[in-house]
Amino acid sequence: MCGIVGYIGKRQASSILVEGLTKLEYRGYDSAGVAIIHNGCLDVTKCKGRLANLEKRLEINPIEGTMGIGHTRWATHGEPSDVNSHPHTNQKGTISVVHNGIIENYIQLREKLTKKGYKFLSETDTEIIPQLIDYYYKGDLVEAVIKAVSKMEGSYAIGVISTYEPDKLVAVRKDSPMVVGVGDGEYFIASDIPAILNQTRDVYLLDDKEFVVMTTDGISILTEEKEEIQKEIYHVTWNTDAAEKGGYEHFMLKEIHEQPKVIKDTMLSRIIPGKPINLDKISITKEQIKDIEKIFIVACGTAYHAGVIGKYVIEKLARIPVEVDIASEFRYRKPIINEKTLVIVISQSGETADTLAVLRDAKAHKSRVIAVTNVVGSSVSREADDVLYTWAGPEIAVASTKAYVTQLIAMYIIALFFAENKQTLYQEKIEYYKNAMLELPNKAEEVLKNKEQIQKFSSKTYMYKDMFYLGRGLDYAVAMEGSLKLKEISYIHSEAYAAGELKHGPIALIEKGTIVIALATQEDLFEKMVSNIKEVKTRGANVFALALEGNDTIEKTVDSVLYLPKVDPLFAPVISVIPLQLLSYSIAVQKACDVDKPRNLAKSVTVE
Ligand code: G6P
Repeated sequence: MCGIVGYIGKRQASSILVEGLTKLEYRGYDSAGVAIIHNGCLDVTKCKGRLANLEKRLEINPIEGTMGIGHTRWATHGEPSDVNSHPHTNQKGTISVVHNGIIENYIQLREKLTKKGYKFLSETDTEIIPQLIDYYYKGDLVEAVIKAVSKMEGSYAIGVISTYEPDKLVAVRKDSPMVVGVGDGEYFIASDIPAILNQTRDVYLLDDKEFVVMTTDGISILTEEKEEIQKEIYHVTWNTDAAEKGGYEHFMLKEIHEQPKVIKDTMLSRIIPGKPINLDKISITKEQIKDIEKIFIVACGTAYHAGVIGKYVIEKLARIPVEVDIASEFRYRKPIINEKTLVIVISQSGETADTLAVLRDAKAHKSRVIAVTNVVGSSVSREADDVLYTWAGPEIAVASTKAYVTQLIAMYIIALFFAENKQTLYQEKIEYYKNAMLELPNKAEEVLKNKEQIQKFSSKTYMYKDMFYLGRGLDYAVAMEGSLKLKEISYIHSEAYAAGELKHGPIALIEKGTIVIALATQEDLFEKMVSNIKEVKTRGANVFALALEGNDTIEKTVDSVLYLPKVDPLFAPVISVIPLQLLSYSIAVQKACDVDKPRNLAKSVTVE
């Protein structure tokens, strides 16, 4: 989730690259760098921190040259630092690469190259790429890039330059966006259109494994077999603001649509059929897992809701008792924590003050702490004993969507990891769950295709003052998140209730026309949920239900129902939250609310 820009032409590259990077800073901002070729030499300037730091360095030591690549980083492998910043170069300093994405098999590739004498400076997966190109370089840069790419697994968009062929910029992508801008005697590459919109509006939208070779004389797009591909130029008509949002009206909507990808990314290299779950930054041993007597999951806001799901799944799969709590409560209630308890803190930003305080307190009580966070190098990632990164990329909208689904994936991964180590499940069952998880990106994609019904429902409900969200089990946890989303961005009051608890008070509020969103994805609780729906229906509620495909008996009881693709109910939260996010979004838009920056809220709460 970083930003790439590249240039080859007759103008000075440095300012074009930096200007492009400023348009991409929203994608990553923990470090930035450029590499430029001038008089046959490669000049690299890169540094930790915001782009302004790089600009300052370039002001003091300008780099000349009319061809180069630039990058702004959102760390995945290796914390933000000068050495981990892109561009990365081979050992000889002759090949330079910028990369977005994740190279899944970088550890194996690094081991192979190390045996052949290659030395690595950074902790990144990216550094493997220039070294691998170097290994395959036998006088033809394009050939070497093709060979290197054929060995790489994972997702990538890369730009490559080399002093061996100083008039050439080579780029390729797989599962990570990349466009090529076409100017007058000049070409650009960019991970996102806004980076080059001030330069050109004519672009090629690259498909997976299309290799682009640019010189000042022309461009060719090649297959892996080096056959030329004819592509149509796409003329961009969006303005810069829309382009930053990938053509979506708001960052929140863009981020909702990124969910299939981030779910996939977060599972990448961790969930592999037939192989044990691989958690590279978690060093807790089998014995330590067996010794855990109790787990506390602690977080704030949306992350707390992911924790509620975590409790259900860890208890179910790994049979360890779990308590879940809000960080601001937990820290002042003198909880019983010691070396036999494990504390899992969840924090998108990794900087939330209350969550951090809980982490420190837990460590002071000798509890082991696992942090689930989205920000490499954040305070919680530095202070926890183990870290599981959610690879959601930067989340801009204040209301969390894609970070939440990746936190859910992290909870499933931890639960399965514990189950595997404690042997609380048969291996076949673990394999079954892994395969079911790997289907989730496609299922999420299916849910996103079906927005009409949500929009219709939202246009009937946006003027209401109150709503109820009901569910049982995992559905209750998702109901809480759905209700929070609605409050946050549409300012409509809503309550999430465990459906069985309704009759102990809140049912007194149900009257003719009260809007109730009922989640009924949990098949073992389905009949009980239907009874609860009947209770509100008979009091006049207008019920909109979510159910899994095949459970159509619900139609007799509710006013309308949206069916979700069939998944194992254990994983239903990952897809059932999507219509709830879209509903809140759609209502907020109709109420003309400031969707991405709701009133009174902040993305990261670093004060108590
Ligand atoms: C703020 C944000 C929420 C977020 C919560 C916890 O309230 O507006 O979206 O869920 O903080 O943030 P964290 O970064 O710790 O997940």
